[in-house]
This record gives sequence, C-alpha cells and structure tokens, in this order.
Amino acid sequence: MTKQHLGVCYYPEHWTEERWAQDAAMMREIGLSYVRVGEFAWSRLEPAPRAYDLGWLRRAIDTLGQAGLKVVLGTPTATPPKWLVDLLPDMLPVGADGRPRKFGSRRHYCFSHEGYARECERIVTLLACEFGAHPAVAAWQTDNEYGCHDTIESYSPAAVRAFRAWCERKYGSIAALNEAWGNVFWSMELTDFDDIELPNLTVTTPNPAHLLDFKRFSSDQVVAFNKRQAEIIRRHSPGRTILHNFMGAFMEFDHFDLSADLDAAAWDSYPLGFLERSPHDEAFKLKHRRVGDPDFQAFHHDLYRGCGRGRWWVMEQQPGAVNWAPWNAAPAPGAVRLWSFEAFAAGAEIVSFFRWWQAPFAQEQMHEGLLLPNGEPGPAHREVAGIARELEKLNAQVETQRSPVVLIFDYESAWAWSIERQGQDFCYFDLVLEFYAGLRRMGFSLDIAPPTAEAVRGRKLVVAPALFCASADFVEALQESGAAVLLGPRSGAKTTDFQIPPQLPPGALQRLVDIEVRGVESLRPNAEVEVANGCFKGWREFIAPRAGAAAELRSVDGETALARSGKAFYLAGRPSKELLATVLRLVAESADLASIDVGDDIRIRDNGPVRYIFNYGSQPVDVSNAVGDNRLLLGEKILPPCGVGAFRFDERL
Ligand code: GAL
Repeated sequence: MTKQHLGVCYYPEHWTEERWAQDAAMMREIGLSYVRVGEFAWSRLEPAPRAYDLGWLRRAIDTLGQAGLKVVLGTPTATPPKWLVDLLPDMLPVGADGRPRKFGSRRHYCFSHEGYARECERIVTLLACEFGAHPAVAAWQTDNEYGCHDTIESYSPAAVRAFRAWCERKYGSIAALNEAWGNVFWSMELTDFDDIELPNLTVTTPNPAHLLDFKRFSSDQVVAFNKRQAEIIRRHSPGRTILHNFMGAFMEFDHFDLSADLDAAAWDSYPLGFLERSPHDEAFKLKHRRVGDPDFQAFHHDLYRGCGRGRWWVMEQQPGAVNWAPWNAAPAPGAVRLWSFEAFAAGAEIVSFFRWWQAPFAQEQMHEGLLLPNGEPGPAHREVAGIARELEKLNAQVETQRSPVVLIFDYESAWAWSIERQGQDFCYFDLVLEFYAGLRRMGFSLDIAPPTAEAVRGRKLVVAPALFCASADFVEALQESGAAVLLGPRSGAKTTDFQIPPQLPPGALQRLVDIEVRGVESLRPNAEVEVANGCFKGWREFIAPRAGAAAELRSVDGETALARSGKAFYLAGRPSKELLATVLRLVAESADLASIDVGDDIRIRDNGPVRYIFNYGSQPVDVSNAVGDNRLLLGEKILPPCGVGAFRFDERL
C-alpha cells in the first residue's frame, strides 16, 4: 500500500543559492517529503539557443535530495523563452479573433506547431538524460496546466493545416464529411479537404458538427503533445512517476485520453478561488467564502482518481489567499487541513502546497505561500506541520476501493453542450456537479468514470446526466451490468455526428428506458416547473413513455417528469436540489443501496476501512450517530467548523 505524504512547490531560481539548504531543512522540519521544481525555468536552463546552464538545477536537486526530500521535476514547456519566440514567431497561439497572443506571461504556444514541438522534445530529452537517473528525482510533471488561460484552441495557420489532415484521416472523403456535418444546410458543402476552415470569424454560429470536430481535434493535439514528452521521460527516467497537473472545472480536452499516457493524474486545488469563479448564488458564496464548496474539490479528487486509474495527487493546494479570483479570501482556520484530509480520504498519494515562499515580485506577488515574502513562516506553515504529524500518527495509506456507485463524466458531452446550450445557463459541468453533490449528501463515496463498459462493470448504480451520445458498447454494458441506471436530461440527444437520432432521443438509450423525447424547452431564471417536492429549473423535456416504460413522477402540468423501465430511469429536466434528492432516493432504493442524509454541511468519505467525516459548516455538529461505537482516530463527536473526524470500521471501542 502507498503511504500518503505532503509536498510543496518550490522555485530555487527565485532565491539565492545560499538559502536553498535552509529552505530544504525547513521543509523537512515541518514534515514535507516531496518538492516540485523547474516547471517554468527554461530561460535559466537555456539562456540563449543551445547555450545550456543545468548546473544550478543539479545543485538545487542535490541540496533537496541531501535533506531527504524527493523531487518532482517539471518540464519547462509552458514558458518558452523570448529568444525561442523570436526564432519561431509563428509558434504563438492565435485567438478566435484571429490575432496572435503575445510573449510576456505564459502558455504562449500553439499545440499544432511542429517546430515548437521539436524544441520541446529537445529540452525534455536534455533534462531527462541529465536528471532521469538522479536518486532524488521521484517523479516528473509534464508542462504545466495544459489549457490554463484559455490556450487549448488555436486558430493559427499550423492549426488549420493539422485540422484538415485530421478531418481527412477521420472521414476519408469530403463527401462523407459533408454528409456527417450536414453541409447541404446553408450551402456549406465543400469540395476538398483544403476548403476546410477553422470555425472562427463566421458571420453567425458555425456548424455545430464542425465545432465539435474542432474540439475533438484540439483535444487530440494536446494528447499528442503530452505523449511525446511522456515517452521521452519514460525512456530516460525509468521507474519514476509521470504525471501532469490538471485544473478544476476545465473541460477543453479529454483528460481520460491524456491520462492514458501518464502513470498518475494530478490536479491543482484552489477551493476559495474556484468558489468565487463558480455560478453559485451570493448567499452560498458568502457562507462558504473561507472554506469553499464542500463538493467541488471532492468531485475533482474522484474525477482525477478515475483519470489516473487509481493513482492521483494534489499537485498544488491553496495554503492561503490567492491572487486571481474576483475576491480572494483568507482560508478559515483549519480549512487547509480540512482540504488536505478530504484529498487523502479520496486516496491522494501526495498533497503538495503551492507554494513555499510567497514571491515578492511579478504576477503572483499577492499569492500566499507557506513562507512570507521575507522568508519567515506564514500562517499556513504551522497548519501544514500539524497535518504532517497527524498523517504520521494515522500511518495514512491509500486504501480506496471500487465504489458500487459511479457517476459518468464525458468530455465530449461537455463540448457538445457548450456548442449548443439552447438555454444560456445550460452547463454540463454544473449539472454533473449537482448530481455529484446530491449523491454525496446521501453519504456515498463515488467513483467518476468515462462512458465505457469497464466503468460500469460490477456497479450497483450508474448515474449519467446529459450524456450526449451513448455508444452501442456502453448501452450493452449498462444492460448487462444489472445496475440501476439514472439518465437524463439530454442523454442520448444526438448521434456522434451531432445530429438528432432518427428514432428520436434518447437514441440508443431507448433500449434502457423505453421513451421518446418529443420536445424540449429551456426555462429562463424563475420560470420553474413544479415536480413532486421540487421543480425543474433551466431545462425540461416533453417525453412520451412507450410500451416498456411508465411515468414514475409527473410535473404539475401533467407531463412525465421521471420515466422508468425496470431499474432504469430517465429524468426529463434539470432538477432542483429537493427534486434531485427525491429522484436519487428512488433510484438508490431500486439499486438496493442504503443511504443516509448528511445534509448541507457534513460530508463523508471512505478510504477503504477508514471513514472520514468533514464539517464544512460554520457551527459545531454532533456526529455521534455517524461515529457509533467506533474509536475516533481524528476529531471529536462534536465536530467543530472545519473539523475532521476519522475512524476505522475494523476498530471499535
Ligand atoms: C496554477 C498554476 C501555478 C500558479 C497557481 C496560482 O494555476 O499552475 O503556476 O499560477 O495557479 O494559484
């Protein structure tokens, strides 16, 4: 079993060399084990073309290693230096407005530029050969946050060329592409693959099938870019974990696809920044401004555990106020500990904080770290030391088991519904997160997985909202799994070519729930449709159950709101929290799954035989019922705000 550890992100190039040993000693002193370095250091590693200076990095890694720290080495390809941009000016990404983005921050490259990709291979090969066998190097991070600052899609000449070739590989003939895209509409028919343009700067909406293929292509470009780095590292640095640090609520490429070339997935968790950027209402944001959304972090933990096929880390954990959200609150006392244990409860191998020192210069000088800008310990420093002691005491290990409940998450669905919202507030991610939160309020520890046969094998309950197109394999696997299934809204609404299926939605999913979706309407704010103890908001469908289905719930206007065929259900709208709770209870009962109601503030997560209990509310909560006669390893039965309780099912008082 893998022991759970803490780490930190460190930029030796920002500080004088004399300070490195002291920093390393201080990191060890508070119980950190891992340190990530190097991911933005290209201008210091290669100050001029082919003029390398790797000595300082070797000395930094040696210093950290001698202190007993393990190093995660980042490839510096998110920040190409000025001389490289001057040499290859057309490597800059081009925005949808047709203008190149400039040098002067980061991520200024186009994924389709072959010249830049070769420069990346060169620097990654150099680093992998130089440091791949270093005893302190335990892991590698490829690049940094692919897609951050809206950088997946580029409308450059290189992208247009690559997109045409991608379409040719996919369709074989231009006639097949015209057919799939429905180009007869508005005389959009093309005669040659060279006629294909990128879907920007059109007079009105481009063809959705064109847009979806461009998103699929852009995703494939990122996957291919990453794969080149991963292969080089694997060749020259055997036995080290290769990972990438993904982001939160980020859907612009398929993270499952990309992770197939990694050993583990990682993500960067900024609970307070993400809360401020979320669509939650003002009351929710005010209530949670110092602790974050109780479900947002956990959702990503489960998502990235799925991406990493069980292996995942938090690469960057917010330790204090950040600088990039509309408002940047300081975490509540205990919140950093709460977030860290929520991650460990979901099976994180490492939780690593961003960053060690707060930088007194440049773009992120208002972003707090574990140390103040003068190098003295800041508020999070002591909290982190406490977490390290508790981890040690718990002898915390990754013990996550496959859950009987799986939530399906599909990047293509996110793309499809961003292309065709139909109601301006329809958002796939928000909808899936609502279902996730609903399941968590029932006390379930979930898995999140893509729509594949493997994902549903052996499950008792499969929940798949808004899955835009289900493959025949997936439908068959669902039928064979014997699991209870909750679908909709918008599930099976399109074919893979972004057309309405000939048999009407939910298309192939009719084999599970025997209904036809005969119409939809989007609902402006406050135009709600009452159902049971709640309502549909934002979205509702008019469905007709056929011979094999019956209406389980109806809206007050007499329409079928929840249809059922055996253990398979179709929900015909976006449910309010109350309606969702009712529906999930019904579905869980049909799956024979016992659930509890933990309410809004308490959350539960099982890491194998260890149950964690978290209090995200502002009042102490008596959790005696949940603890029963188990011996608490962490926390007390009256759990204070930000409190963490933990016990083992196999250890009673
Ligand atoms: C992440 C990024 C870091 C740093 C951090 C600030 O998105 O990977 O380099 O910018 O945000 O919160």
